[in-house]
Amino acid sequence: MSNNQNNHLDQLNQFNPIISINGTITNKENAKISVLDRGLLFGDSIYEVLMAYDSVVFLLREHLDRLWNSAEGLFMNIPISKNELSHEIIKTIKAAGNKISYIRLMITRGEASRFGLDNDFCSKGNFIIIVQKHSGHSSHYYSEGVTLGFADVIRNDVRALNPKIKSGNYLNNFLAYMSVKNKEKGAYESIMLNSDGQVTECSTSNIWIIKNDKVFTPPTTVGILAGITRETILKLGKKIGMEIREENFGAKDVINADEAFISSTTRIIFPATKIVSDLRDQKIGSGVPGPMTMRLLAEYRKFINEYINRYRDNDL
Ligand code: PDD
Repeated sequence: MSNNQNNHLDQLNQFNPIISINGTITNKENAKISVLDRGLLFGDSIYEVLMAYDSVVFLLREHLDRLWNSAEGLFMNIPISKNELSHEIIKTIKAAGNKISYIRLMITRGEASRFGLDNDFCSKGNFIIIVQKHSGHSSHYYSEGVTLGFADVIRNDVRALNPKIKSGNYLNNFLAYMSVKNKEKGAYESIMLNSDGQVTECSTSNIWIIKNDKVFTPPTTVGILAGITRETILKLGKKIGMEIREENFGAKDVINADEAFISSTTRIIFPATKIVSDLRDQKIGSGVPGPMTMRLLAEYRKFINEYINRYRDNDL
């Protein structure tokens, strides 16, 4: 067996999430769902990725609100109330007992009673909560930064599968990621443009650039997931007096930026210090994590700590 396969098996053995299916808590061997579930048949599901510190789920209300918006966008009924779902999440993370947890919360449309697209042909939806121990990202992502590349595929158009819906169909993102991974100098994340050549977001994160001390991220109208980390950075940036704007920009603006970074729930902020492009492979700015990026990261970490302390003795 090759080393790669061995590594993969080691990782699989360490991957021991606690899973709740419709409120029944079990392990990965026993967590089962019908092969006729529309989540599997059509990618007909929605999801959220959240982080919990002890039993405090960071920005739970914001994630649940986005989940409900995704459901609305797909004419999907969530089979449980927000309050009940919050309790089920807390119950599952307590059963897992991790210091830091990665939570993947999924709602599927349910089991089809016959083949056909109509949503009347299926049962009540399922909710699935997967909780895995999170050991944190290697510190070199923060100290060195990551390399970005431009994807060969464009982001889904807002009039097709609107990227604001966080659906289980992540194939647009997967293809974007593969297109940079497969290139000679594989990048860590791929930047997707839309059909007008505007920068949208990366395959699993939002994108930011800094030029002349101003911070820019594309507006949601360009066709992106309204990242919860993105929204929080906008608020924190304004609070500390940074000039921070939602404005469209193109590929050249990323290449010529003074600093750049990506944001998502699990990573918070990863500085982006290099870019692989057809024009040339080069540093972004001076090629090291920039001061404004690191200031925002520090503010964000402070905000997480305050949040945890505020909600620690409060079950929700
Ligand atoms: N991804 N854009 C896309 C396409 C994403 O998949 C994500 C998050 C984000 C950032 O959103 P937030 O700040 O709310 O995490 C932006 C999650 C983490 C994932 O699918 O793993």
